[in-house]
Amino acid sequence: MEIKKICVLGAGLMGSGIAQVSAEAGYEVTMRDIEDRFVQGGLNIIKKNYERAISKGKMSKEQADSVLSRVKGTLDMAEAVKGAAVVIEAVIENMDLKKQVYKELDQLCAQDTILATNTSGLSITEIASMTKRPEKVIGMHFFNPVPVMKLIEIIKGQATSEETFQVIKALAEKLGKTSITVNEAPGFAVNRILVPMINEAIFVLQEGIASAEDIDKGMVLGANHPIGPLALADLVGLDTLLMVQDNLYKELGDSKYRPCPLLRKMVRAGHLGRKTGKGFYDYSK
Ligand code: CAA
Repeated sequence: MEIKKICVLGAGLMGSGIAQVSAEAGYEVTMRDIEDRFVQGGLNIIKKNYERAISKGKMSKEQADSVLSRVKGTLDMAEAVKGAAVVIEAVIENMDLKKQVYKELDQLCAQDTILATNTSGLSITEIASMTKRPEKVIGMHFFNPVPVMKLIEIIKGQATSEETFQVIKALAEKLGKTSITVNEAPGFAVNRILVPMINEAIFVLQEGIASAEDIDKGMVLGANHPIGPLALADLVGLDTLLMVQDNLYKELGDSKYRPCPLLRKMVRAGHLGRKTGKGFYDYSK
């Protein structure tokens, strides 16, 4: 199957990163969101990345312009999916919303279009059940920040075909990433391990065992993590982490997965990390 155009749904942190790496790999990309300010926000994230790369002398302005010319922003779903061999969906982590999106996608996309979801841990099988093409629905889970992180988890749902799997595995390589294959399970492989670790760090903070700075310093210097778990929580977004942890708890039914009350409280307060300027650390200055 030859892929020329990729449609990315959602222009947030993940969607814009996926659009960027897809355009860098030479694909035509349409990035779609529901409001123009979100689309512009996504395009700005890519532009800022290139401004940084240019200022560091890692890229020329011509190279950046040439990649950017391959990314088109739109609000129109039908236009976005037109001619796309693969749709990579990165809308917010809400099953009801995803179901609505897949119903619409199934009607608008060409019959052979593959629908790949960047969900952080929701059921691929449940998402696929909204379509008449469950064999063409698959998980393609990127990591934040997408341009930097090398991994893509590829997740097979109950009906995902081998052919769909092979196309997405080859695409992951074309995007310059390394893939691992995961059978569907809540949180897949990486978030099943990583998110409870971050949740535990929030318990350590909540219980007054150590300060945020010392918890992070401990994990950086004592476990060789690139950044501490609370700084990572702020990078990923506390709302996303709570969703993943809530889903692990709901699906696996084991109290060891219960979300830390402090995490929930911070999400309720709107302190979602870097994207809102405040999380475990203050980014407003
Ligand atoms: N977008 C693009 N590039 C970025 C970036 C971003 N948001 N943030 C950093 N970079 C680039 C920088 O430009 C820099 O590039 P060069 O080396 O070419 O100059 C490089 O990354 C290193 O950046 P910095 O020197 O500024 O900072 P750093 O050394 O601390 O690295 C980091 C930043 C890569 C984010 C590093 O801290 C790290 O690896 N952190 C852990 C990230 C992680 O674990 N991600 C997974 C999250 S879980 C997830 O995503 C799954 C989910 O479903 C919830």
